Amino acid sequence: MKIDQLESQRQTLQAELDGKKTQEERNVMGQFSTPIALANDVLNHAKNIFPKRGKVRFLDPAFGTGSFYSALNTVFPSTRIEAATGFEVDKHYGKPALKLWKQTDLNYQLADFTKQTPPDEEEKYNLIICNPPYVRHHHINGQKERLQEKALETANMKLSGLAGLYCHFMALSHPWMKKNGIAGWLIPSEFMDVNYGQAVKDYLLNEVTLLQIHRFEPSDIQFDDALVSSAVVWFKNKKPRNNHKAKFTYGGTIDKPAHERDVSLSTLTKEKKWTRFPLSGEREENNTPKLSDFFTVKRGIATGDNKFFVVAREQIERRHLPLEQFRPILPSPRYLNATEVKADKNGFPDIDNQLFVLDCKLPVDEVKRVYPELYDYLEEGIQAGVSERYLCKNRKIWYSQENRPESQFYCTYIGRSDKEGKKPFRFVLNRSKAIVSNSYLILYPKPHLEKEIEQNPELSEQLLEALNQITGKAMLDEGRVYGGGMHKMEPKELANVPASEISSVLGKALTKRCTGQPKAEPLVSRYTASGCQ
Ligand SMILES: C[S@@+](CC[C@H](N)C(=O)[O-])C[C@H]1O[C@@H](n2cnc3c(N)ncnc32)[C@H](O)[C@@H]1O
Repeated sequence: MKIDQLESQRQTLQAELDGKKTQEERNVMGQFSTPIALANDVLNHAKNIFPKRGKVRFLDPAFGTGSFYSALNTVFPSTRIEAATGFEVDKHYGKPALKLWKQTDLNYQLADFTKQTPPDEEEKYNLIICNPPYVRHHHINGQKERLQEKALETANMKLSGLAGLYCHFMALSHPWMKKNGIAGWLIPSEFMDVNYGQAVKDYLLNEVTLLQIHRFEPSDIQFDDALVSSAVVWFKNKKPRNNHKAKFTYGGTIDKPAHERDVSLSTLTKEKKWTRFPLSGEREENNTPKLSDFFTVKRGIATGDNKFFVVAREQIERRHLPLEQFRPILPSPRYLNATEVKADKNGFPDIDNQLFVLDCKLPVDEVKRVYPELYDYLEEGIQAGVSERYLCKNRKIWYSQENRPESQFYCTYIGRSDKEGKKPFRFVLNRSKAIVSNSYLILYPKPHLEKEIEQNPELSEQLLEALNQITGKAMLDEGRVYGGGMHKMEPKELANVPASEISSVLGKALTKRCTGQPKAEPLVSRYTASGCQ
């Protein structure tokens, strides 16, 4: 049967199946099908940005009756479609749709996509097109933790408890994509402005190359109501170049938008409200110094499995593991009471229960030859499945950590505030060689500040004091809140925190060094990198 005949049968089927469900039932499952005109627009655009001669391996993880699959067959000749897979959890749509597409090569799985294991590289997909279920977060209670863990593990997407199922779908699809594969997601544009959407934006900024975000004009009556506030998000599965610009388009169609603007990743990183583009441009900066004027903020290391990689000194000694293949690491903020961590004679933190993280760069044969005890330990890790965990599996050497030097300044990353206004985050001055896990953020002084600290070692303490004077409110304005008063800060959010306290300390230090006189008021109100001339 020809595709247009199948499509017309599909539309009849869709209307029939929708009619047998209440609006509430469809809300709970996020069952709103994509009008075929839009599906065709989406696939046409996909074809425009897809390599001209490449074969298509297509995946729709929320298939329904298959409007995108239908559009795929309309837009691409069958000779170019190497594979096509769809997942659908609800038999109500799945069974009749399975029957409808039986004569095609579609691999239709009646299964919960969020519970599937991604395939090996050869079997992955280079075109993912999806209108995922827009299920609100309260309808996914009971599954949230599992989904959140999986999103973090598979796409480095730290989704809050407020994120809808569509965010999880996007994250969980990441390991199904071939390198350089293309994805087009039809999702609510809300993610562009609200707090829970930040994790999606971080993903689009850091993990993939964001190509385009198109929003429809609300007055456009071409599409039904459920879709007018939607955006189509296009990206490529490739880490972005630093100077990359993404296209923001509005109104008209994806390929012929009424408005468009290229926006750099650095602007997008700074901007919280992405819906200002393309109609408005970059926001004017105000002049208050921010932490990013003084520090580069990074996340602590993600080991992939702290239970395996982080070990106590006593265990290292008992198992005769080679200490030189470990780095000291601070305990998680819960177990670290001090604001200043001193160093012992080896540069290890002068605290009870010293911890170390395995960070070995040697190939396994060499480990076996030189450090048989460590080799046995690694074998245990393999048996326990550690080497197969997402982060470990994606490293060149599964038991080596990312190269992240220690710093003097760390900030706790997750915290609780209370009614008394207790500050949810805390800065720590680290005099030791210890690194931190990702339950902290690392503040690396920028070169101009580094130079000041070298010339004036007392400055570190003053800086710590100044950091801890930043008000809880200033930090919470940039961070995000989770259920139960939990607050979290991402590196970029911490970098955005206003830091007049720091410029004041530096202004004073600079005045003292230049004039030999401490002054009550800083010589420069906004410390600049120029230092004393
Ligand atoms: C917004 S509809 C899109 C359907 C179709 N792709 C289209 O564009 O017309 C989302 C579909 O995802 C299905 N769905 C919801 N949760 C799912 C899950 N966990 N796994 C697979 N499919 C799911 C729903 O039943 C629904 O058919």
